[in-house]
Amino acid sequence: MVGYSAKDPARARHVAIIMDGNGRWAKKRGLPRSLGHQRGVEAVRRLVRGLKPMGLECLTLYAFSSENWKRSENEVDDLMNLMRKFIKSDLPEFVANDVRLKIIGDWQGLAPDIVAMLEDALAQTAKGKQTLAVALNYGSQQEIVRAVAKAAVLGEITTDSIAARLDTADLPPLDLLVRTSGEIRLSNFLLWQSAYAEMLFVDTLWPDFTPEMLQQALNDFAKRERRFGGR
Ligand code: IPE
Ligand code: IPE
Ligand code: MG
Repeated sequence: MVGYSAKDPARARHVAIIMDGNGRWAKKRGLPRSLGHQRGVEAVRRLVRGLKPMGLECLTLYAFSSENWKRSENEVDDLMNLMRKFIKSDLPEFVANDVRLKIIGDWQGLAPDIVAMLEDALAQTAKGKQTLAVALNYGSQQEIVRAVAKAAVLGEITTDSIAARLDTADLPPLDLLVRTSGEIRLSNFLLWQSAYAEMLFVDTLWPDFTPEMLQQALNDFAKRERRFGGR
């Protein structure tokens, strides 16, 4: 993988995206929300297919939050079924393209058949070079609580010991956080990891998001001056 060092701070290693706006995309067209979610999955597929030349080590996607259970049973079912379909249809492509799947969040709390599919997908993609981390049943506050609880057992509550127990512990530091759909909030996503991440909020609704837009975001990222508190 292309390296990142103090000499090359312009290159993003890890980008995360809050994929928002599927519902509004459908509403604008008089279509059911489920169709917006379907088109959202297609946007994910396009992005993963376009990932290799971007040189990222990791792309993290917020797919289902721990608060998304508050939606109607119908919509939650639609989302879970799309997840099943997506894993089945796209897993061979992940393997072929050297994509390592990783799941963050309380994914063991999903339906048992989805957990089994994910375990299989994780095993099949374990040797992949570029990581696609998918946040499922993910809430950042819950993740931090889990990490602090583990650190507390060892009597070692420090920023390093907590970071080492977050779901993202094995991922590079977060460089850039993108949210689509015009909302300017984090909605319980990567709160700890965002401490010094650059942020980009775009109006595009998620189903309209393209790999070219991500590449543009990376080009813009390269021009930002990150200071991390120093001068
Ligand atoms: C994002 O789109 C997908 C999920 C949160 C699962 P939304 O469903 O939140 O779309 P809007 O925000 O209602 O437009
Ligand atoms: C955040 O979007 C969650 C995902 C993109 C999976 P939401 O649509 O759930 O967030 P809020 O409710 O607008 O804050
Ligand atoms: Mg939304």
